[in-house]
Amino acid sequence: MPRVVPIHAESLLDAVRRLRAGQPVAFPTETVYGLGADAFNVEAVERVYVLKGRPRDNPLILHVADARMAAERVVAAGAWSDRAAALARRFWPGPLTLVLLRRPELPPQATAGRNTVAVRCPAHPGAQALLGMFGSPVAAPSANRSGHVSPTTAAHVAADFASVDDLLILDGGSCEVGIESSVVDLTSDPPRLLRPGSITIEQLREVIGHVQSPRIESQDASPGTAERHYAPRTPAKLVDRETLVEAMRRQGRCVVLAIEGDMAAVCSQAEADRDRVTTIPMPAVPEKYARRLYSALREADAFEADVILIERPPDEPGLWASIHDRLRRATHGAA
Ligand code: TXA
Ligand code: MG
Repeated sequence: MPRVVPIHAESLLDAVRRLRAGQPVAFPTETVYGLGADAFNVEAVERVYVLKGRPRDNPLILHVADARMAAERVVAAGAWSDRAAALARRFWPGPLTLVLLRRPELPPQATAGRNTVAVRCPAHPGAQALLGMFGSPVAAPSANRSGHVSPTTAAHVAADFASVDDLLILDGGSCEVGIESSVVDLTSDPPRLLRPGSITIEQLREVIGHVQSPRIESQDASPGTAERHYAPRTPAKLVDRETLVEAMRRQGRCVVLAIEGDMAAVCSQAEADRDRVTTIPMPAVPEKYARRLYSALREADAFEADVILIERPPDEPGLWASIHDRLRRATHGAA
């Protein structure tokens, strides 16, 4: 059984002691929980891959206490560019990951053998405290089993790693943002957004000018952006509001993630079929929707229904576009 503990001086000391001993520690960030290991300890990094069941070609994000630690310990000498500095000044600490040339001293396992490295300075006070006390970069993927929905609470982490004895999980509450950080590749010119997140491409362009949109068809640049990722175990489908009630009628046992407001038709259908239909209301505001999404998908999964019907959110730029990216992956491959 994992050990879920609140964040205080003592649990932080325990976490740092474990990181120094090469053991993994799960910790909160403002996006999702991470499964951290000392980035300079090869065996510790290996352990994270094994625990997650993560493909070896999918590199990890290195978490740092500040931009200085990124420039001096993670990124190759001289590779901390003006663009990196400008983005860090504007968005760090926060949900933005920068891909830059890696320092040769880093173990190759931390970057899956690539010559580039992803680095991020998280804003969550628990993550900040941990990184500050540890004083060195922490390699951390999201703290879920590979391919599963990312965790936004300590309980989600504990559920995915229930069989891992004595895994320390620092409990920092529910994650504010709720979807993974935006990842931008600064080694290409112009820079390219690899994974959309709560920091939007429009915001990035305000700081560094031209930024290319994610290339949906190619996952080579960033293996973690594979289709059918962040997925519940139950097949999930995206359905327009206009056809939602009809879809509910046609399905067997289903869970419906319906967007709040004007839900009368959906609710009355669910009421009529309450032995086989469950409704989970979703916020209509994108920030709140993102915060709720992964816990809603996990709750929906727990019903072990035949299908999860997800009402298609507004087709709008900004955060809704990033939410669409995650929904597309969650529903990929479901007939
Ligand atoms: O919000 C987040 O980013 C969370 C928290 C824990 O910080 N972490 C996270 O890690 O989502 P993970 O491992 O689930 O996703 C890391 C993403 C993957 O898509 C991976 O392929 C990409 O970052 N990545 C890592 N290193 C890269 C590199 N050198 N070049 C391109 N993509 C990279
Ligand atoms: Mg992940």
